[in-house]
Amino acid sequence: MDKETLLKLNFAKGLAREAGLIAKKKIGNLGWTHLKSGFYDVVTDADVAVEKMVKYEIEKSFEDESVLGEETGEDKNGKNGKIWIIDPIDGTTNFSKGIPHFCVSISYVVDNDPLIGVVYDPYMDELYEAVKGNGAFMNGEKIMVNQTSELTDAILNTGYQYSATEYRNTVLRNYNAFFGKVRAIRVFGSAVLDQCYVANGRIDGFWEYCLKPWDVAAGSLIAKEAGASVRGIEEEFSIYGKTIVVANSNLISKILEVIKS
Ligand code: IPD
Ligand code: CA
Ligand code: CA
Repeated sequence: MDKETLLKLNFAKGLAREAGLIAKKKIGNLGWTHLKSGFYDVVTDADVAVEKMVKYEIEKSFEDESVLGEETGEDKNGKNGKIWIIDPIDGTTNFSKGIPHFCVSISYVVDNDPLIGVVYDPYMDELYEAVKGNGAFMNGEKIMVNQTSELTDAILNTGYQYSATEYRNTVLRNYNAFFGKVRAIRVFGSAVLDQCYVANGRIDGFWEYCLKPWDVAAGSLIAKEAGASVRGIEEEFSIYGKTIVVANSNLISKILEVIKS
Protein backbone atom coordinates (compact mmCIF):
# COMPACT_ATOMS: atom_id res chain seq x y z
CA MET A 1 0.00 0.00 0.00
CA ASP A 2 1.42 3.41 -0.88
CA LYS A 3 2.06 6.09 1.73
CA GLU A 4 -0.81 8.33 0.66
CA THR A 5 -3.34 5.49 0.84
CA LEU A 6 -2.10 4.43 4.26
CA LEU A 7 -2.36 7.99 5.50
CA LYS A 8 -5.91 8.28 4.20
CA LEU A 9 -6.88 4.90 5.65
CA ASN A 10 -5.62 5.89 9.10
CA PHE A 11 -7.31 9.25 8.81
CA ALA A 12 -10.65 7.59 7.90
CA LYS A 13 -10.33 5.09 10.75
CA GLY A 14 -9.76 7.84 13.32
CA LEU A 15 -12.60 9.90 11.93
CA ALA A 16 -15.07 7.00 11.80
CA ARG A 17 -14.36 6.14 15.45
CA GLU A 18 -14.74 9.73 16.53
CA ALA A 19 -17.99 10.10 14.57
CA GLY A 20 -19.39 6.83 15.89
CA LEU A 21 -18.72 7.83 19.47
CA ILE A 22 -20.49 11.17 18.94
CA ALA A 23 -23.52 9.30 17.60
CA LYS A 24 -23.41 6.78 20.44
CA LYS A 25 -23.44 9.59 23.01
CA LYS A 26 -26.46 11.11 21.35
CA ILE A 27 -28.55 7.99 20.94
CA GLY A 28 -30.52 8.38 24.15
CA ASN A 29 -30.41 12.13 24.11
CA LEU A 30 -31.58 13.33 20.74
CA GLY A 31 -32.34 16.98 20.07
CA TRP A 32 -34.63 17.55 17.13
CA THR A 33 -35.75 14.96 14.61
CA HIS A 34 -37.22 15.90 11.24
CA LEU A 35 -38.99 14.00 8.55
CA LYS A 36 -37.44 14.31 5.09
CA SER A 37 -39.62 12.95 2.30
CA GLY A 38 -42.37 11.43 4.50
CA PHE A 39 -43.30 9.89 7.87
CA TYR A 40 -40.95 7.00 7.10
CA ASP A 41 -37.87 9.13 6.42
CA VAL A 42 -36.31 10.43 9.64
CA VAL A 43 -33.27 12.63 10.09
CA THR A 44 -31.93 13.43 13.56
CA ASP A 45 -29.73 16.20 14.85
CA ALA A 46 -27.03 13.56 15.23
CA ASP A 47 -27.07 12.70 11.48
CA VAL A 48 -26.48 16.35 10.68
CA ALA A 49 -23.93 16.99 13.45
CA VAL A 50 -21.87 13.91 12.58
CA GLU A 51 -21.88 14.66 8.86
CA LYS A 52 -20.86 18.26 9.51
CA MET A 53 -17.92 17.15 11.64
CA VAL A 54 -16.77 14.46 9.20
CA LYS A 55 -17.09 16.77 6.21
CA TYR A 56 -15.23 19.56 7.97
CA GLU A 57 -12.33 17.29 8.89
CA ILE A 58 -12.04 15.87 5.37
CA GLU A 59 -12.20 19.26 3.71
CA LYS A 60 -9.62 20.64 6.13
CA SER A 61 -7.17 17.80 5.46
CA PHE A 62 -7.74 17.26 1.72
CA GLU A 63 -8.59 20.63 0.22
CA ASP A 64 -8.48 19.49 -3.38
CA GLU A 65 -10.89 16.57 -2.88
CA SER A 66 -14.64 16.69 -2.51
CA VAL A 67 -17.19 15.12 -0.21
CA LEU A 68 -20.51 13.50 -1.01
CA GLY A 69 -22.60 13.05 2.11
CA GLU A 70 -26.13 11.87 2.59
CA GLU A 71 -27.24 14.94 4.50
CA THR A 72 -25.41 17.62 2.53
CA GLY A 73 -26.08 16.58 -0.99
CA GLU A 74 -24.80 14.88 -4.04
CA ASP A 75 -21.58 15.79 -5.73
CA LYS A 76 -21.10 12.92 -8.10
CA ASN A 77 -18.16 14.30 -10.01
CA GLY A 78 -15.64 15.02 -7.32
CA LYS A 79 -12.58 17.17 -7.85
CA ASN A 80 -10.00 15.31 -10.00
CA GLY A 81 -12.27 12.25 -9.87
CA LYS A 82 -11.44 11.95 -6.14
CA ILE A 83 -14.32 11.93 -3.73
CA TRP A 84 -15.03 10.97 -0.13
CA ILE A 85 -18.46 9.38 0.21
CA ILE A 86 -19.92 9.36 3.69
CA ASP A 87 -22.98 8.16 5.52
CA PRO A 88 -22.85 9.78 8.97
CA ILE A 89 -25.32 7.29 10.42
CA ASP A 90 -26.43 4.28 8.42
CA GLY A 91 -29.40 2.84 10.26
CA THR A 92 -31.01 6.13 11.28
CA THR A 93 -34.44 4.57 11.80
CA ASN A 94 -32.89 2.16 14.34
CA PHE A 95 -30.88 4.99 15.89
CA SER A 96 -33.88 7.30 16.22
CA LYS A 97 -35.63 4.75 18.46
CA GLY A 98 -32.53 3.81 20.45
CA ILE A 99 -31.89 0.51 18.66
CA PRO A 100 -28.10 0.10 18.83
CA HIS A 101 -27.57 -1.22 15.32
CA PHE A 102 -26.13 1.51 13.12
CA CYS A 103 -22.74 2.64 11.88
CA VAL A 104 -20.66 5.40 10.35
CA SER A 105 -19.44 4.79 6.81
CA ILE A 106 -16.53 6.59 5.14
CA SER A 107 -15.09 5.73 1.76
CA TYR A 108 -12.56 7.22 -0.57
CA VAL A 109 -13.48 6.77 -4.21
CA VAL A 110 -11.31 7.41 -7.25
CA ASP A 111 -12.96 7.53 -10.68
CA ASN A 112 -16.12 5.86 -9.28
CA ASP A 113 -14.11 3.00 -7.81
CA PRO A 114 -13.87 2.67 -4.01
CA LEU A 115 -10.23 2.56 -2.95
CA ILE A 116 -10.72 2.76 0.82
CA GLY A 117 -13.72 1.72 2.91
CA VAL A 118 -14.06 2.20 6.66
CA VAL A 119 -17.15 1.39 8.73
CA TYR A 120 -17.49 1.78 12.50
CA ASP A 121 -20.21 0.23 14.66
CA PRO A 122 -19.87 2.04 17.99
CA TYR A 123 -22.03 -0.34 20.03
CA MET A 124 -20.18 -3.47 19.02
CA ASP A 125 -16.96 -1.45 18.94
CA GLU A 126 -16.23 -3.04 15.57
CA LEU A 127 -14.18 -1.21 13.00
CA TYR A 128 -14.18 -2.63 9.48
CA GLU A 129 -11.58 -1.53 6.97
CA ALA A 130 -10.52 -2.37 3.45
CA VAL A 131 -8.17 -0.99 0.85
CA LYS A 132 -8.62 -2.24 -2.69
CA GLY A 133 -6.37 -5.26 -3.25
CA ASN A 134 -5.34 -5.56 0.42
CA GLY A 135 -8.05 -7.66 2.06
CA ALA A 136 -10.64 -6.74 4.66
CA PHE A 137 -10.25 -6.51 8.41
CA MET A 138 -12.39 -6.13 11.51
CA ASN A 139 -10.61 -4.67 14.53
CA GLY A 140 -7.34 -5.53 12.81
CA GLU A 141 -8.17 -9.20 12.18
CA LYS A 142 -8.58 -10.44 8.61
CA ILE A 143 -12.19 -11.33 7.76
CA MET A 144 -13.55 -13.66 5.09
CA VAL A 145 -17.00 -14.48 3.75
CA ASN A 146 -18.34 -17.86 4.80
CA GLN A 147 -18.64 -20.68 2.28
CA THR A 148 -22.30 -21.61 2.72
CA SER A 149 -23.35 -23.14 -0.57
CA GLU A 150 -27.00 -24.10 -0.04
CA LEU A 151 -29.88 -21.69 0.29
CA THR A 152 -31.38 -23.93 2.96
CA ASP A 153 -28.32 -23.24 5.14
CA ALA A 154 -28.38 -19.51 4.47
CA ILE A 155 -29.47 -16.52 6.52
CA LEU A 156 -30.07 -13.65 4.14
CA ASN A 157 -30.57 -10.02 4.93
CA THR A 158 -32.44 -7.44 2.92
CA GLY A 159 -33.81 -3.94 3.28
CA TYR A 160 -36.11 -1.67 1.41
CA GLN A 161 -36.45 1.91 0.38
CA TYR A 162 -38.40 3.55 3.20
CA SER A 163 -41.12 5.03 1.00
CA ALA A 164 -41.79 1.55 -0.43
CA THR A 165 -43.21 3.13 -3.57
CA GLU A 166 -41.08 2.30 -6.59
CA TYR A 167 -40.12 -1.21 -5.46
CA ARG A 168 -43.02 -2.20 -3.21
CA ASN A 169 -44.20 -5.13 -5.29
CA THR A 170 -40.67 -6.30 -6.05
CA VAL A 171 -39.70 -6.25 -2.37
CA LEU A 172 -42.76 -8.25 -1.34
CA ARG A 173 -42.39 -10.65 -4.25
CA ASN A 174 -38.77 -11.36 -3.38
CA TYR A 175 -39.53 -11.89 0.27
CA ASN A 176 -42.21 -14.34 -0.73
CA ALA A 177 -39.94 -16.06 -3.24
CA PHE A 178 -37.22 -16.71 -0.62
CA PHE A 179 -39.69 -17.74 2.07
CA GLY A 180 -39.36 -21.48 2.64
CA LYS A 181 -36.19 -21.66 0.53
CA VAL A 182 -33.71 -20.16 3.00
CA ARG A 183 -33.12 -20.71 6.71
CA ALA A 184 -34.15 -17.15 7.56
CA ILE A 185 -34.56 -13.67 6.15
CA ARG A 186 -33.59 -10.68 8.28
CA VAL A 187 -34.12 -6.94 7.90
CA PHE A 188 -31.60 -5.46 10.34
CA GLY A 189 -31.96 -1.87 9.10
CA SER A 190 -28.39 -0.92 8.19
CA ALA A 191 -27.43 -1.76 4.64
CA VAL A 192 -23.80 -0.88 5.33
CA LEU A 193 -23.57 -3.30 8.27
CA ASP A 194 -25.40 -5.92 6.21
CA GLN A 195 -22.51 -5.82 3.70
CA CYS A 196 -19.98 -5.97 6.56
CA TYR A 197 -21.85 -8.94 8.05
CA VAL A 198 -21.53 -10.81 4.78
CA ALA A 199 -17.83 -9.89 4.86
CA ASN A 200 -17.25 -11.39 8.31
CA GLY A 201 -19.46 -14.40 7.64
CA ARG A 202 -22.26 -13.58 10.11
CA ILE A 203 -24.79 -13.67 7.31
CA ASP A 204 -24.66 -15.50 4.02
CA GLY A 205 -26.06 -12.93 1.64
CA PHE A 206 -27.66 -9.53 1.25
CA TRP A 207 -29.72 -7.87 -1.45
CA GLU A 208 -31.46 -4.53 -1.78
CA TYR A 209 -32.95 -2.20 -4.38
CA CYS A 210 -32.60 1.54 -4.55
CA LEU A 211 -29.58 2.20 -2.38
CA LYS A 212 -27.44 5.31 -2.67
CA PRO A 213 -23.67 5.59 -3.13
CA TRP A 214 -23.16 6.27 0.61
CA ASP A 215 -24.96 2.99 1.38
CA VAL A 216 -22.64 0.87 -0.75
CA ALA A 217 -19.27 2.58 -1.37
CA ALA A 218 -17.46 1.39 1.78
CA GLY A 219 -19.54 -1.75 2.41
CA SER A 220 -19.16 -3.18 -1.08
CA LEU A 221 -15.38 -2.77 -0.98
CA ILE A 222 -15.15 -4.42 2.46
CA ALA A 223 -17.32 -7.31 1.22
CA LYS A 224 -15.30 -7.72 -2.01
CA GLU A 225 -12.02 -7.64 -0.14
CA ALA A 226 -13.37 -10.33 2.20
CA GLY A 227 -13.92 -12.54 -0.84
CA ALA A 228 -17.59 -11.80 -1.57
CA SER A 229 -19.09 -11.41 -5.01
CA VAL A 230 -20.88 -8.09 -5.39
CA ARG A 231 -23.35 -7.84 -8.26
CA GLY A 232 -26.23 -5.72 -9.49
CA ILE A 233 -29.54 -7.43 -10.19
CA GLU A 234 -30.29 -6.41 -13.78
CA GLU A 235 -27.21 -4.33 -14.43
CA GLU A 236 -23.54 -4.46 -13.57
CA PHE A 237 -22.86 -3.30 -10.02
CA SER A 238 -21.81 0.32 -9.62
CA ILE A 239 -21.83 2.49 -6.51
CA TYR A 240 -24.14 4.82 -8.46
CA GLY A 241 -26.37 1.96 -9.59
CA LYS A 242 -29.74 0.93 -8.22
CA THR A 243 -29.31 -2.62 -6.94
CA ILE A 244 -26.89 -4.79 -5.02
CA VAL A 245 -26.51 -8.47 -4.18
CA VAL A 246 -23.63 -9.60 -1.95
CA ALA A 247 -22.73 -13.20 -1.11
CA ASN A 248 -20.01 -15.78 -1.50
CA SER A 249 -19.50 -16.99 -5.05
CA ASN A 250 -21.26 -20.34 -4.39
CA LEU A 251 -24.43 -18.70 -3.25
CA ILE A 252 -24.76 -15.55 -5.30
CA SER A 253 -26.04 -17.21 -8.45
CA LYS A 254 -28.63 -19.12 -6.40
CA ILE A 255 -29.79 -15.88 -4.79
CA LEU A 256 -30.00 -14.15 -8.16
CA GLU A 257 -31.91 -17.08 -9.58
CA VAL A 258 -34.63 -16.69 -6.95
CA ILE A 259 -34.76 -12.91 -7.37
CA LYS A 260 -35.10 -13.25 -11.14
CA SER A 261 -37.53 -16.20 -11.03
C1 IPD B 1 -30.93 3.12 5.15
C2 IPD B 1 -30.46 1.82 5.75
C3 IPD B 1 -31.49 0.73 5.55
C4 IPD B 1 -31.83 0.56 4.08
C5 IPD B 1 -32.32 1.88 3.50
C6 IPD B 1 -31.23 2.96 3.70
P1 IPD B 1 -30.09 5.35 6.40
O1 IPD B 1 -29.94 4.13 5.30
O2 IPD B 1 -29.24 1.42 5.19
O3 IPD B 1 -31.01 -0.52 6.01
O4 IPD B 1 -32.83 -0.42 3.95
O5 IPD B 1 -32.58 1.68 2.13
O6 IPD B 1 -31.70 4.17 3.16
O7 IPD B 1 -31.23 6.20 5.94
O8 IPD B 1 -30.33 4.74 7.71
O9 IPD B 1 -28.78 6.04 6.26
CA1 CA C 1 -27.68 4.86 4.58
CA1 CA D 1 -27.77 7.91 6.82
